[in-house]
Amino acid sequence: MQASENSHPVLETEEILKSFPNGREVIHVLQGVNFKLLQGQTVSIQGESGSGKTTFLNIISGLESLDSGRLLWNGNEIGRQSTASVAAQRARQLGFIFQAYYLLPELNVLDNVILSARLLHVPGIKDKERARRLLDRVGLKDRMHFSVEKLSGGERQRVAIARALMNKPNLILADEPTGNLDEQTGDSVIELLLGIAREEGTSLILVTHNSSHAVKTDARYRLHLGKLEQVIDES
Ligand SMILES: Nc1ncnc2c1ncn2[C@@H]1O[C@H](COP(=O)(O)OP(=O)(O)O)[C@@H](O)[C@H]1O
Ligand SMILES: [Mg+2]
Repeated sequence: MQASENSHPVLETEEILKSFPNGREVIHVLQGVNFKLLQGQTVSIQGESGSGKTTFLNIISGLESLDSGRLLWNGNEIGRQSTASVAAQRARQLGFIFQAYYLLPELNVLDNVILSARLLHVPGIKDKERARRLLDRVGLKDRMHFSVEKLSGGERQRVAIARALMNKPNLILADEPTGNLDEQTGDSVIELLLGIAREEGTSLILVTHNSSHAVKTDARYRLHLGKLEQVIDES
C-alpha cells in the first residue's frame, strides 16, 4: 500500500523548536520544523552530522520534550496527554530501527522479535506465528533459534526490521540503519525495509547519509540550519 489522496496523517509537527544548553551557550537545533506524514508514506531525511536528525526522531516519538510547537499522532496532540498514555501509544504505533541494532544478546532471534509484543501483552501463539512469518519474510527462517551474537551485521538488522514490525505499527523510524553495514548489505537491507513497509502499509521515516537510499522513498527531506526542507528532484 502507498499513501493516497485519502490517507490520513499519522504524524504532524507544527513549528517545533528545540534547543540544548551547551556550556554558556545554547544550541538551537530545531528552529520551526513543520512536517506531515501520511499513512503508508515513506520519506527520507538527510542532513549533516549534528544537524538534529536524531533529535527530531526523539521528539516525534515523544521521548524528548519540545520547547514549543505541536506534535500530533493520528491527529491527536501528544503534549496534552500523560506520559503513560504516550508510552502505551508509542509501543503500539511506533517501530524503531537503529544503526547499532540494539538486540538483546541473551535472547535468540525469535525471542528478540516477540519481545516487542511483550510490551503490550503476554505474547500468545498468534504473536509467535507473526514473529515467525516476519523472520521468514526477512530471510531468516533458518536462523530463528540462533543467538543474535552469531549473526552478521546485515542479519542483525533484518532481525531489527522484523522486531520493528512485530506490533503492526503505523510508523517506523529508522535512524541510519545502514551506517554499520557494507554497501551491498546496506542496499539489500533498504530494499527489504522499503518492500516490507509497503506490503504492511506502514509509514517510514528513513534517516540516511546515503543519497541512493534516500531517492527510493516517496519524498525526500533535508534538515539544514534547524529547518526541514523538502528536496525536489531535478528530473
Ligand atoms: N541531550 C543533549 N544535550 C545537549 N546537546 C545535545 C543533546 N542531544 C543532541 N545534542 C546536540 O544537538 C545537536 C544535534 O544532534 P543530533 O540530533 O544527534 O544530530 P544528528 O543526528 O543529525 O547527527 C548536536 O549539536 C548535539 O551535540
Ligand atoms: Mg543522529
